[in-house]
This record gives sequence, C-alpha cells and structure tokens, in this order.
Amino acid sequence: MKNSTTIGFIGAGNMAYAIISGLINNDFSAENIKISDTNESLLSLRKKEFNLEVFTDNSELVRHCDVIVLAVKPQMLSSVCQLLKQALNSNTLIISIAAGVRVHDIDRWLGGDCAIVRTMPNTPALLNQGVTGMFANERVSSAQKELATSILNSVGQSLWVTDEVMLDAVTALSGSGPAYFFLMIESMSKAGVALGLDEKTAQLLSIQTALGASMMASVSDESPRDLRANVTSPNGTTQAAIESFQDQDFDMIVAHAMRAAFDRASQLAAELSDSD
Ligand SMILES: NC(=O)c1ccc[n+]([C@@H]2O[C@H](COP(=O)([O-])OP(=O)(O)OC[C@H]3O[C@@H](n4cnc5c(N)ncnc54)[C@H](OP(=O)(O)O)[C@@H]3O)[C@@H](O)[C@H]2O)c1
Repeated sequence: MKNSTTIGFIGAGNMAYAIISGLINNDFSAENIKISDTNESLLSLRKKEFNLEVFTDNSELVRHCDVIVLAVKPQMLSSVCQLLKQALNSNTLIISIAAGVRVHDIDRWLGGDCAIVRTMPNTPALLNQGVTGMFANERVSSAQKELATSILNSVGQSLWVTDEVMLDAVTALSGSGPAYFFLMIESMSKAGVALGLDEKTAQLLSIQTALGASMMASVSDESPRDLRANVTSPNGTTQAAIESFQDQDFDMIVAHAMRAAFDRASQLAAELSDSD
C-alpha cells in the first residue's frame, strides 16, 4: 500500500482501534490516518495512543481522505452516510465494516455511484488474528481492491467473494464463528468438571486444546479430517468420543446452526435497509 494514501475512520471504537493498530504495526504512517467520532474523550484517547489527526465533523474528515472506513454501529450508518454526500468526491473509496448493511443501501445513502467495499471482519481482528470476507461493487478498481486487501490484512487474513449474498455465509461461518468455538470451550469445560476436574483446570485444558488444535490445523499440510484420523486410534478414547458425537449427528447440528445464522443475517440486512 502506498504510504501516501490517506485513510479516514468514521467511528473510533474497538474495530477502528484494531485496524489502526494493525496498520501502524505494519509501518503505515500515523500521519496518513485520520479519525472522527462523536465521542470527544475517545478521540482524545486515540490521539494520545496513535498521535493522529482527529475530527468531530465526519464531513471535514472525508475532505482530507482517499479512503473512508465506516466503523460505526450498523444502526448509525444510514444517518452517517446521508450527512457525507456533499463532502465525498468520486475517487473516494468507501470501506464499510458494519455488519449486515448491504452495498446497495450504503450507495443509496451516500447519493449513488460510489466505489464501495463491504467487509465482514470478526472479533479476533482485535488480536490481529481476524479473517475478513470482502465484496466490492462494480465501481471499485483493481488498485482500490488491493488497497482494501492491504488494510484488512493488517488485522489478519482476508478474502473476496464475488456475490454479496456470500457475505451472509461468511457472517454465519467466521463472523459468528468465534462464539461457536467459545461454546465448545464452555461445553468441554463443563464436561471436564462433570468428570471430576476443578473448574479452573478444566477451562485451561479446554482453551489450550482449542488453541493448539487450531494452530496445528493452520500450519499443517494435512486436512482437518486427516489430522483427526491421525489422533483417532482404533478402539481408543478419541474414537469413543467421536462416535458419540456422530451418533448425535454433530455435522447436522452445526449445519442447522449455521443455516439459522445465515437466515438471520439476511433478515437483519432487510431490516437495516428499511430503517431509513
Ligand atoms: N467488534 C467486532 O468484533 C466487530 C466484528 C465485525 C464487524 N464489526 C462492525 O464494526 C463496526 C464498529 O464496531 P465497534 O465494535 O468498533 O463499535 P464501537 O466500539 O461502538 O465504535 C463505534 C464508535 O462510533 C461512534 N459513533 C456513533 N455515532 C457516530 C457518528 N454519527 N459519527 C461518528 N462516530 C459515531 C460511537 O460513539 P458512541 O459510543 O458515543 O455512540 C463509537 O465510539 C460495527 O458496525 C460492527 O457491526 C464489529
């Protein structure tokens, strides 16, 4: 990414903090990052943390930037966008990280004909371990796509989808996914306690096992299925547990849960579209 590109964040909350930290850790100059928020004490904190220019007027910020990252809550997006119309120029790239708000609605609120990338990051972005799905409308150039990739890669990994509805699938998988793993950690901890371990020990064993397994899956050339087979000796303890999961149709439980998340993502997008 060209270090002369100026990136402005509207909303100085958790996600903006994570992405700005990622950019600065990747040697992007703080001089070229600007931020606006309605919360002045949060702005002072960000100024102190990163030594960057801050604004209380979103339109003023937009006038100084090549890229605008919309980092307010989804319910705020319609009013924020509608007040930006006059300040935008046709070359500004808009990147939205707001969950569930469709590109068509953002474009409509901004007055039309904007280059917009809609993204779906996830919470581990706060630790630079996120994964982000991204979708671009037809106005976004390949150089702007590269720029968006570099920005989101600063908090983990990213990938593009070519059909916006696939962002609902990304939401159902990686967007909501951290909570599924937290649930698994909770369940394994509770089951460990039922088997006689104290709560602290059971939780530590569950968390470290999740971390270790995830790291193995991410660095190994073998598929998760092969890794599982490698640790499942015939007639052993792991096989007993896996067979018990399969008797309860574990795949189907996960598939139903993710279908519910997918359907809810599309309902929420429709509700947010009607909210203006
Ligand atoms: N956190 C996550 O893990 C995560 C994951 C994926 C996607 N996202 C998306 O990322 C976006 C930001 O989430 P977040 O967790 O960073 O939210 P957040 O911490 O609440 O930050 C949003 C900030 O925007 C400020 N704000 C409200 N109205 C504004 C306005 N008109 N102009 C400028 N700033 C305004 C808020 O101030 P007040 O608090 O005073 O209202 C707050 O400081 C959301 O749309 C969310 O869907 C978050």
